[in-house]
Amino acid sequence: MFSSDIAIDLGTANTLVFVKNKGICLREPSVVALNTLTKEIQAVGAEAKQMLGRAPASIEAIRPMKDGVIAHFEVTQQMIRHFIQKVHNNRKSMVRPRVVIAAPSGITQVEKRAVRDSAESAGAREVFLVEEPMAAAIGVDLPIEEPSGNMIIDIGGGTTEVAIISMSGIVYSKSVRVAGDEMDEAIVNYVKRKYNLLIGERTAENIKIQIGTAYPLDQRVTMEIKGRDLVAGIPKTLVLSDEEVREALQETFSTIVETVKIALERTPPELAADIVDKGVVVTGGGSLIKGLDILLREATGLPITLAEDPLSAVALGAGKLLSNHKLLKKVTF
Ligand SMILES: Nc1ncnc2c1ncn2[C@@H]1O[C@H](COP(=O)(O)OP(=O)(O)OP(=O)(O)O)[C@@H](O)[C@H]1O
Ligand SMILES: [Mg+2]
Repeated sequence: MFSSDIAIDLGTANTLVFVKNKGICLREPSVVALNTLTKEIQAVGAEAKQMLGRAPASIEAIRPMKDGVIAHFEVTQQMIRHFIQKVHNNRKSMVRPRVVIAAPSGITQVEKRAVRDSAESAGAREVFLVEEPMAAAIGVDLPIEEPSGNMIIDIGGGTTEVAIISMSGIVYSKSVRVAGDEMDEAIVNYVKRKYNLLIGERTAENIKIQIGTAYPLDQRVTMEIKGRDLVAGIPKTLVLSDEEVREALQETFSTIVETVKIALERTPPELAADIVDKGVVVTGGGSLIKGLDILLREATGLPITLAEDPLSAVALGAGKLLSNHKLLKKVTF
């Protein structure tokens, strides 16, 4: 029978939609552009992201889920509705789908309600919520149902989540609001402080992706960057090195490493022993920064594995639940 069940990774940076029996069908930045006067939606996703920091006064491009929390309820709801309708090709007469949504483990009751409501108002028959690190662990095929410790680190845009999972349950989890976005902000601040140059968040993200490293590379790399000189008030270009970016990101990396260490300290001994044997899997777009595995390996002494497709792990895991009813019942709420 035709099934339109879907799973959504509602990330602060990117939203992914997995359609049962099809796989990931949508992958868009979690950005919405609104008309400031009418409050009508102008664009959603990639198109809206282009407008961040570039829109005229009549249009406001916002990230409704910034910093790991739902900052704008209504806009988040509209965004979810938009994406659900998009994967269903705006068909109205579909079977009402069951929807699994992966949300940050730190979200409040009110936020959970808002997420549920928006999926329901978009036509969901039933809504199941799963915690992001659980979905990520399932997505990378960790044997989470076994009575054995599995450690997952998910470094997203808004939050870094560290979780220890055994027998389909989260034994320990810690979420900090320091991840990819914070790295971008740290770069903006560094360039401002050191060079009196103001750069936008998008530029900072590009710098991070191009020359950001968590550990010194064999070879030095540099990048030409453009922004506005705060003293002269005019556009200016300068060259930034990987070393400078690493310095800018120092504090962010320390926080991430510290969070992992605290998680390890709090892990019950039997499970800790399992983790020493099996190692740790790292997912999330933030884990794509070069050298992060080396940094984590040095800091913890544990085997660190980077997920094959870190940006898709949560969506794949949530998607798998659509065809595993038993597991769905165990890990969702
Ligand atoms: N090649 C790369 N190098 C470094 N960072 C990257 C790279 N590609 C993507 N990122 C960063 O990954 C982050 C997005 O990751 P991801 O999509 O996993 O986050 P999210 O799931 O939306 O956020 P969260 O899980 O916190 O809600 C962004 O900060 C982005 O800049
Ligand atoms: Mg995520």
